[in-house]
Amino acid sequence: MSEASGSAIERVGVVGGGLMGAGIAEVAARAGSSVVVCEMNAAAAAAGRDRIESSLGRAVERGKLEAAVRDATLANISFVTDLGDLADRQLVVEAVREIEEEKVEIFAALGKALLDDDAIIASNTSSIPIMKLAVATNRPDHVLGLHFFNPVPVMRLVELIPSITTAVEVVQRAEGYVSGVLGKHVIRSQDRAGFVVNALFVPYVISAIRMLESGFASAEDIDLGMVEGCSHPMGPLALADMIGLDTIKNVADSMYEEYKEPLYSAPPLLCRLVEAGLLGRKTGRGFFTYTR
Ligand SMILES: NC(=O)c1ccc[n+]([C@@H]2O[C@H](COP(=O)([O-])OP(=O)(O)OC[C@H]3O[C@@H](n4cnc5c(N)ncnc54)[C@H](O)[C@@H]3O)[C@@H](O)[C@H]2O)c1
Repeated sequence: MSEASGSAIERVGVVGGGLMGAGIAEVAARAGSSVVVCEMNAAAAAAGRDRIESSLGRAVERGKLEAAVRDATLANISFVTDLGDLADRQLVVEAVREIEEEKVEIFAALGKALLDDDAIIASNTSSIPIMKLAVATNRPDHVLGLHFFNPVPVMRLVELIPSITTAVEVVQRAEGYVSGVLGKHVIRSQDRAGFVVNALFVPYVISAIRMLESGFASAEDIDLGMVEGCSHPMGPLALADMIGLDTIKNVADSMYEEYKEPLYSAPPLLCRLVEAGLLGRKTGRGFFTYTR
């Protein structure tokens, strides 16, 4: 490894400035890193910036963040629309949609674009095996999964997923950044679709959807049952709406592909909602209806 292998990570790239990418960019910038977010086009970049500005604005309104910290955080973030502009980054976190072909294409391009031999490429995938992404690059030993949770500025957990080819030094350096600089709690998982949390969570949500579609109970009662009966902060259907029903379906599909267990197969009601574009909170309607 070159001299830079142990150097502190200060320059971070994020591919995709959606729900998760914007959150990852925000926490990295707030921790003092220089952050470059790559989006598809200028409109998507503007939407990503808006997402970060409103999240920081809400934190200021609630008295959880000083206005000066908000300004310093925003000053640490820039937006680009060409992956080539991430060339000098030491860590790049990919956070585009949960579609394997799209991620593979980005990993191949990132491998070529990054100039630092020690640069680490991470995926925020919820379920796609990291090995499938690592082999698309020219540096499979520098690829790993860093799975953040939504909303990123609030949720402390990050799952760290080395593939069978990830170098030990790369795991240590990534963990040092995520836990030491971003202040997150890291748990490690083997490279199996869904990792620890979604392997447990997705069958739970799928069971709630099946319960609803079979007429067993109403959406309101299913959610209230888990909130009041198990002290969950949200019911499974409201949580699915918050995550995005397209994301839930894509994650379930990847897990079904890996394990071939009915436990992970997307119920027809979930498929119909996704086909209808009723994706939950982000579109105003999913299992519940939202005013924006
Ligand atoms: N939504 C959640 O609660 C959640 C939680 C943990 C992990 N994840 C994972 O995070 C990833 C992103 O999910 P999300 O909910 O933020 O999705 P999203 O649809 O909100 O955001 C994806 C973003 O990627 C951008 N994008 C698409 N192709 C691109 C490209 N070629 N170059 C640059 N940008 C591109 C899109 O414009 C969009 O802004 C997925 O892998 C998902 O499984 C999601």
